Amino acid sequence: MKIIQETALTYDDVLLIPQYSDVDSRRMLSTETRLTNQIKLQIPIVSANMDVVTESEMAIAMAREGGIGIIHRFLSIDAQAREIQRVKKAESFIVEKPVSMDVANTLGALKKLVEETNAGGILILENEKLVGIITRRDILFEENDNKPLRDVMQKKLITASPEISLKDAEKLLHQNRIEKLPLVDKDGRVAGLVTLKDIMKITQYPKATKDERGRLIVGAAVGVRDKEMRRVEAALAAGADCIVVDIAHGDSNLEIDMIKNIRKHFPKVQIIGGNVATADGTKRLIDAGADSIKVGVGPGSICITRQVAGSGVPQLTAIIDCAKAAESSKTPIIADGGIRQSGDVAKAIAAGAQTVMIGSMLAGTDESPGMIMTRRGHRYKASRGMASREANIDRNKREGNDLTQEEIEEYVAEGVEAAVPYRGKAREVLTQLVGGLQSGMSYSGVHTLEEFQQKAIFVRMTGAGLKESGPHDVEVIG
Ligand code: XMP
Repeated sequence: MKIIQETALTYDDVLLIPQYSDVDSRRMLSTETRLTNQIKLQIPIVSANMDVVTESEMAIAMAREGGIGIIHRFLSIDAQAREIQRVKKAESFIVEKPVSMDVANTLGALKKLVEETNAGGILILENEKLVGIITRRDILFEENDNKPLRDVMQKKLITASPEISLKDAEKLLHQNRIEKLPLVDKDGRVAGLVTLKDIMKITQYPKATKDERGRLIVGAAVGVRDKEMRRVEAALAAGADCIVVDIAHGDSNLEIDMIKNIRKHFPKVQIIGGNVATADGTKRLIDAGADSIKVGVGPGSICITRQVAGSGVPQLTAIIDCAKAAESSKTPIIADGGIRQSGDVAKAIAAGAQTVMIGSMLAGTDESPGMIMTRRGHRYKASRGMASREANIDRNKREGNDLTQEEIEEYVAEGVEAAVPYRGKAREVLTQLVGGLQSGMSYSGVHTLEEFQQKAIFVRMTGAGLKESGPHDVEVIG
């Protein structure tokens, strides 16, 4: 037995000391960061891989705002892959299967197709190769339905390769004053269509985090059992940008073997390992091949690991220790769990994390799975620990095992089921969290998150300091 004398701290034990600032507007401060060294984010927020938090709807909202969502693993391999595909398709600037018609048809048939599909432009093919395009404008005043398509279509075509980037597609549309850009492969076959309308839609979310093909980014959680390699394979085939190897005690042989196995079969994939709470654990996962480390044992809002197992490290100390251990390899840290307000995000980042992972705060939003409930005049949504008794029952049911009463009672839960206040759109929560983080940066006089980590100074406070830090001696009415 060994007792480490040092006191471990968490968010409520400290404050950031205000420092001289030359920041005129906190909104101008950059919150750009890295999830891994290859995946850049515009805001340092990741939605948790929990079944009450992240499926495609949440992941789409997160990526549009500049963060990322990790699709949970408590659904079948196929269902998880479908969720990933939904995210990937949500904002693609390429229509993968554009509406087309053979040139041998007449205008009448084409008008019918336009009506059925509501397509703004139809690609015209001859022997399956692109020979023309007909837009709504081309047929507006054409009354002779027997006219062959060859006499209606635009024959002078601007096309591009299916690998074109969003920027280059934008440039081509602009330079040629066109609204549709067909993509053709080297044999002249149609491989997609870029439309001005789709590109304009994308600009609605200027901070959105995208892959090189202009699709929103998304992560997928996997477990460590043998069959989980199939999940990895399916998630990557569906387009996942990173894999989170998700177990409660990540400093373990099971986690390390899984990371190594994924690295061996998919050398280029971005792997996030965790959860750990110590410097040694962090180093072990980095050595195994992880590109980013998820830190947090027991800080989560729905966790009871520390009560049940007596194990864990208060989160601020865990972040500081793990960040120090990851420094030499520049491996990013994800502070996972325990975020209740924007000040916690500021403290987590200042302490050394590159991103924070959030569960229950996002479980209360429109984009999380599950219904809104009303209790005593207030609106709520459900949250629950992934190691709660209820989550375990549901998980088994999904796998076709109806647990007996005895099996249910034997399960030692490390999470609880809870209700969280309804919070509206995820975007509103993220705006508050990011705005608060930027305020924290401005109080420390810094312009970037990296500078924040170098310059931030923490002061420890007493219980009286904590009491003084919230509203007190007033009746809060709004
Ligand atoms: P917050 O505080 O954001 O935390 O709701 C989310 C994180 O909590 C972890 N998690 C659990 N931890 N038992 C635990 O000890 C559980 O049942 C459980 N479920 C989730 C997880 O790391 C998540 O991201």
